[in-house]
Order: sequence, then C-alpha cells, then structure tokens
Amino acid sequence: MIWAGRLADHIKETAKRPGRLSKTLAEGRGFFMGWTPVDETRTEANSDRWHSRTLAIHGGCNRSQFGENAEALFLTSGFRYEQAEDAADRFSDRQDGYTYSRLGNPTVRMFEERLALLEGAEEAAATATGMAAVNASLMSGLRAGDRVVAARCLFGSCNYILTDILPRFGIDVVLVDGRDLAAWKTALSRETSMVFLETPGNPTLELIDIEAVCALAHAAGAKVIVDNVFATPILQRPLELGADIVVYSATKHIDGQGRCLGGAIITTSAYRKQILQPFLKHTGPALSPFNAWVMLKGLETLELRVRTQSRTALELARFLDRHDQVEQVIYPGLESHPQHALAVRQMAGYGSLLAFRVGGGQERAFKIMNALRLVAISNNLGDAKSLITHPTTTTHQRLRMDERETLGITDDLVRLSVGLEDVEDLMQDLDQALRI
Ligand SMILES: Cc1ncc(COP(=O)(O)O)c(C=O)c1O
Repeated sequence: MIWAGRLADHIKETAKRPGRLSKTLAEGRGFFMGWTPVDETRTEANSDRWHSRTLAIHGGCNRSQFGENAEALFLTSGFRYEQAEDAADRFSDRQDGYTYSRLGNPTVRMFEERLALLEGAEEAAATATGMAAVNASLMSGLRAGDRVVAARCLFGSCNYILTDILPRFGIDVVLVDGRDLAAWKTALSRETSMVFLETPGNPTLELIDIEAVCALAHAAGAKVIVDNVFATPILQRPLELGADIVVYSATKHIDGQGRCLGGAIITTSAYRKQILQPFLKHTGPALSPFNAWVMLKGLETLELRVRTQSRTALELARFLDRHDQVEQVIYPGLESHPQHALAVRQMAGYGSLLAFRVGGGQERAFKIMNALRLVAISNNLGDAKSLITHPTTTTHQRLRMDERETLGITDDLVRLSVGLEDVEDLMQDLDQALRI
C-alpha cells in the first residue's frame, strides 16, 4: 500500500512535468487507454537521431519510479482506480490511463512503440499470434461486397483466411501470381479494397515488387498489407516502398529463440485509431504482457541475429548449390534465383530461409530430414536453432495437389530455417544427411 501510494504520487508528479511525459501521452493518443509514466528514451530528439540498432534497444522504453534497467513486466490483467470517478473518466476517455490488458498494457505498449520506431512507422498494434495480426488487419477493414487481390504464394493459414473465410462473408478474393506484374495490373483494373502479399513467400521464396504493386493497388483504391515475416524489419521496409500496413508473426525472428507466440500490425496512427483499435478492443486478440516482455528482449538482438543468419544462409545456399546430391536450391541471394535483381533492389539482405529439392520425392526428403543430427525437424522458423520442414506434408498440406504444383511445392522440396550455429557444423550435418 505504501508503494501504491508512492506510485500514485509519482504519477501525479510526473503528469505535472510536461518535458518528461511520453510523446504518446503528450499527443493525447489515449485511444489505447495507455498511461506512460516516465519516458526516458523516446524524446523526439532522440528517436529522430538514433539508428535502428539503438532504437531496437532503447526505443519505447518507459521506466517506473524504481528505475529498473530492463523493461518492467506488468503482468496484470486489470488496473485500479483511486476513485470511482477515475474509472468513469478513463472509460469515457476524459483521463489517460490503463483499464484492462485486453485494451492496453504498459509492457505491451513498450513493445509496440519499439517496433513502430524500428519500422519507421507511427503505430504498431501487438497481437497474440501472427495469424491474429493477419486476421485483424484484413477483417477490421473489410465488409461484404468488398474485393481483395492477393498473391497466391502465401503461408497456409493466410491462404485459408483469404480463400475460405473471407468468401463466406461475401468478400470476393482474387489470387494472382505475385511475380507477374501484368497479372497484378489485370486484377487491379477494377476497384479493390485490399491487397495482401507476402515477400519472400513461404516456402518457395518467390519475391514480389512491393513498390510496383503498391502503385497499381493505390490506383485501384486499395490498401496494401505486406506480411514481412521472412524479411523482418531489418532486411525490408515495406512502408517506405508504399505499403499501408505491415504484419508480423513475432513468433519468428522477433522472439528468435522459439519461446513465445506473438504478432504485430504496423500502420499509421489514424488507421489504428479509426479502423484497427475498435476491432482489436472488442474481439480481443491481445498479446500477453509476458510474451511482450520476451519480444522486447528479442528486438534488442534482432539485427545481430538476422544479419548473422542471412550470412550463414547465403554460405549454405552456395554449398548446397554445389552439392551433387541436391537438385535445386532456391534462395534470393543466389544469382540463379530468377528474381535476384529484385532482391538486391528491395531487400538489405536475403534472409534466413532457403528451400531445396533433393529429388526422389517425399521418401528421399524424409530420409534426409531423419538423418540430420544438428538441424531439427520443426515447422517453426526464425529460431536461433536451425530447423527443417517438409512443406507438402506440414505447413502447406491443406493445399490441393494442383495448387501445390502451380506454386512449385513439390514432394522433394524442403525448407531450411537457418539458425545461429557455426556454418561449418551446419554444412557437415547437411552433407552427412544428403549422402545417406
Ligand atoms: C509468413 C507467415 N505469416 C504468418 C504466420 C503466422 O504466425 P503465427 O504462427 O505466429 O500465428 C507464419 C507462421 O509460420 C508465417 O510463416
């Protein structure tokens, strides 16, 4: 109670010091019901000056009166009010402050602010999973009669939302070959509400020219959502290329150590306030404060991990490309990738995912996967541990055979998520498995 009293005094004191109020509070962006007590780091001067590596460590950090160095974990479902009048004021937006963690939480807010800063965006909204982010970004902005154009090379669950769920609500969905600008042009010759794409795509690493598709989409009146999971904010910045919304599965590289599920939607303040926030508030895909805390720590090392993983992935791709037991390697960093020039133009590195065909169908793919000793069989990706998966029987198992064939997801294709192990050890493990 003593501490609670001091905290209340501290809040009142802090509120009297405009220079130390967070940008969020100072701007009165109370829609997330968020009170941010002392913002040591996100002053306008600092966040404008800092590079992404610094933002990933200090961005969005709000310290409590205890002066903790690591970000505080506010593991609470609800918040208290000193008086009934305060509750009434907070619920009617007359007072800034948290009410309930489904609507906002200080630890989650730190994660959102840090991610938005890293992305060069005004806003980020955290969600419980990547799929919750994908679903909310689509559902919040669509209504019956709308039209969506999407790339056909997508993560299986994204494909399900687009091709199974949305049509049930009277939304017309058209899938195109994302690599083909003429196909986008034809599909976007009619008024369209939203465009959804993923680049590089899962699992065949097809690329999409974000800038060109955004220009066509905007001319058709559409908002563009980019699933940037494979590239991460370190290697690709879709908002700078014209996208309106970026979605993440934070489960992947942002956590990066295979511990927690999470997701995020990155956009403008106006879009979050008007379109997203009412949907998130009432449907409840909120990120747990504990997971947000893990993700905050993940962001601190994101750049180091992703750059190391990309370097290792390129070395492994070259090694597999030379290997006599491998039929084909797909990696945007290889000159043999048909869209290598686009990767050079659009990305700041080629990412931690590669795919390769081993010949001999599913039987040989399974045999090789089962022979690996260091690389683990798992459908997750972006982990510190290298992981291998067989898309046909796991992540893309839902697709019809002809759909898989069109996408090049053959029975002998395996996807490798490159971790942080020593490249020599990974080469040795892959080599011994391929020779089995
Ligand atoms: C490209 C892509 N988008 C979205 C998701 C969904 O993320 P989550 O598993 O966190 O819901 C995944 C998951 O594998 C993915 O690979």
